[in-house]
Amino acid sequence: MLNIQLKGCEPFVSESIKKKYITKAYSAMDLLDSGKGAGGNMLGWHHLPSEIPSSFYDKCETIKKRWEAKGINSIIIVGIGGSYLGTKAALTSLSKTFPDHRTFPRITFAGTNFSEDFYSDLYDLMTLKNVAVIVISKSGTTAEPAVAFRLIKKFMEDKYGKAEARERIVTVTDKDKGALRNITNKEGYDSFAVPSNVGGRYSVLSPVSLFPLYLVGFDIKAMIEGAKEMEHACSKKSSHNPAVVYAAMRNVLHGFGKKEEILVNFNPKLRYIAEWWKQLFAESEGKDGKGIFPAFVNYTTDLHAIGQYIQEGQRTMFETYIEIAKPSNDVVIPYDADDMDGLNYLAGKTMSECNRLAMLGTIMAHIDGEVPQIGIEIDELNEYEIGALFYFFEKACAISSYMLGVNPFNQPGVEAYKKNMFALFGRPGYEDIAESLKARL
Ligand code: PA5
Repeated sequence: MLNIQLKGCEPFVSESIKKKYITKAYSAMDLLDSGKGAGGNMLGWHHLPSEIPSSFYDKCETIKKRWEAKGINSIIIVGIGGSYLGTKAALTSLSKTFPDHRTFPRITFAGTNFSEDFYSDLYDLMTLKNVAVIVISKSGTTAEPAVAFRLIKKFMEDKYGKAEARERIVTVTDKDKGALRNITNKEGYDSFAVPSNVGGRYSVLSPVSLFPLYLVGFDIKAMIEGAKEMEHACSKKSSHNPAVVYAAMRNVLHGFGKKEEILVNFNPKLRYIAEWWKQLFAESEGKDGKGIFPAFVNYTTDLHAIGQYIQEGQRTMFETYIEIAKPSNDVVIPYDADDMDGLNYLAGKTMSECNRLAMLGTIMAHIDGEVPQIGIEIDELNEYEIGALFYFFEKACAISSYMLGVNPFNQPGVEAYKKNMFALFGRPGYEDIAESLKARL
């Protein structure tokens, strides 16, 4: 289970300051748990892991069997932000790095941009493959996935006919409202509901991600078990509550002028966990002129890119690294009789040992470069641990947001670009804005 390591903060943070912030984090947690804080009507994610009904698994299985019988080899998931990042994060961290014929059906994500190249290439893919589609949008009105679904729905109906397309399309959206719910009802698609009190970036442990992950064979029950265990660990009033400790420490560092947090991984499989984390913290904390700027790096790759800046650029950042205690696989470096590359000193060592030593060397170099280090250790890369990690970050993010004095559950800033885009698209009701924008072009 997850363990927070604060050794890399010790040179920068005294015990008394740490204790003071842990007390503040507990007050923020009390406010969160009471439901009286800002956005207190959006706490459905809080107990989501304990509330999945068994009928959910039955429905997943029915659809899985139907799609298997049709020989579906390509699933297109349409969704943006919180409606796709959690699935992509779990999928990437739990799948083989180089998927081959054993990882069927393949998942492709769409609805995350307006790129003409992307959709033209997607048509090519859908022409070649035996396709099913999952459309995920809580509001049912977000422009990127809505436009994507209009394109894909037409394609599916042209390729398979309306009745067969219906068998191959499943939606995940609000129970009652939104355009996608209306389309679902009219067309008779199978559908899962996103609980109304769960926002997009807190929805990874709901059907939004659980349904697609079930379809491609991941053990979502283990993921839920991990999340449940973490729900328990993160509700404790003890100095071992990981969400409290992490939220407290990032706020201590922020108070010392560390304005950016960089999530570090030493395993490329964690890259989309970092993308998901970035969205969670950016949309939850970045408002009212506040927030810790979330960025991420993949090491050792990025040590040959942004590593220079992290070592010696502006001293305004701290790093949070994720360490996997038990590697799932390993590879031994071979002995070479000629030793032309001079690497025989590594012969017999495993790649995981080298990776760990590279990590320790980097952590110490960055501490020397005044970049404090928070460690998050997970046991191994499996469904249970990933479920726990998701819940841990959600709870820590909500606590940390309250410590910063912002509402973690809204995203008013996202509306600004939408308003301009709709005006420029010519959407009815946006004529005045369109006129003033066009004058600026
Ligand atoms: O966290 C959020 O609420 C957002 O990132 C949403 O997930 C994103 O905007 C997509 O929204 P929707 O699912 O309503 O299409």
